[in-house]
Amino acid sequence: MRPLPAKPPLDGKAAVAAAFSAAAETYNRGADVQREVAEHLIARVRNLPHNPRPRILEIGCGTGFLSRALVELNPSELVLTDVSESMLNRCREGLGPSPHTRFMIMDGERPTLAPGFDLICSSLAFQWFDDLTTALPRLAALLNPGGYLAFATLGNDSFENWKQAFADINMPSGMRDYPTPEFLAAMLSPQAQVDDEHLTRCYSSAHAFLDELKLIGAHLPEDNHRPAPGPLRRVLREFESGIAVTYHAIYGIWRA
Ligand SMILES: C[S@@+](CC[C@H](N)C(=O)[O-])C[C@H]1O[C@@H](n2cnc3c(N)ncnc32)[C@H](O)[C@@H]1O
Repeated sequence: MRPLPAKPPLDGKAAVAAAFSAAAETYNRGADVQREVAEHLIARVRNLPHNPRPRILEIGCGTGFLSRALVELNPSELVLTDVSESMLNRCREGLGPSPHTRFMIMDGERPTLAPGFDLICSSLAFQWFDDLTTALPRLAALLNPGGYLAFATLGNDSFENWKQAFADINMPSGMRDYPTPEFLAAMLSPQAQVDDEHLTRCYSSAHAFLDELKLIGAHLPEDNHRPAPGPLRRVLREFESGIAVTYHAIYGIWRA
C-alpha cells in the first residue's frame, strides 16, 4: 500500500483554531481560571456607564463564559466571534435562544465588521494574537465615540516556574511572550485603565498541568515549537510531585 502523503502543517492561525475546536467539548471542565478571569472582567464592565441598549462585539467568545454576562447587558445587538467554529457552536448551544445575538467566525486581529459598537469585550483571547499592537487600534476603530474596549489577557509573569525551568537549562520553553501591564498601559494611554492580578493554581504534577492545557485547547506552543524530548523530560521530572502555576491576568479598559 502506498503511504498517504503527509498533511501540510497548518499555519499559525489555523493551528490555533484547530486546537480550540478539538477541545470545544472538554473546555468547560478544565477552564476554572478562564471562568474566574471572565467574572473579574465582567465585574469591571458592569461598572462602566452604558447606553441602555448597547451594540456589543465579543472577540474569542469560546464556550461563552463572558457571552452569558454580555446578554444580561440587554444589547440591541450582540455579535459573538471566534476563530473556532466548534467553540462558536458550543457557545450557541449554551446560550440558548437569544434573539439579538449573531455568531460569526472571525479573526479578531483582522475584524471584517463595520464600525458602530458601544462595547467590544474579550477575555483571554488576545494572548493568541500574532501582533496585539496592530490589532488593538483596528478593534478600537470599530467603536462609537465614548464606547469601550474591555479585555483580559495574559501578562508577562504567566507560567514563570515552567519558563524558568527551561531557562535554567538554556532551552526554549515554547511558551509565548506576554506583555507587561506597563507596556499595555503605555500603548493605550491616556484613555485607558489597566490593572492586573496573579492567580495561582497548584497541580499534582507537570503532567497534570499540561493535561489541563490540552483539555482547554491552549497547549499549542509558540510557532509550533516542540521542546526537545530530553529537556522536556528533565523539566517534567523537576515537577513530578507538583507545580504551582501563575496565571497573570491583565485587565484593560480603553475609552474611545
Ligand atoms: C482561552 S479561550 C477563552 C474563551 C472565552 N473568552 C473564555 O473566557 O472562556 C481563547 C478563545 O479565543 C479564540 N481565539 C484565539 N485566537 C483568536 C483570534 N485571533 N480571533 C478570535 N478568536 C480567537 C479561541 O478559539 C478560543 O475560543
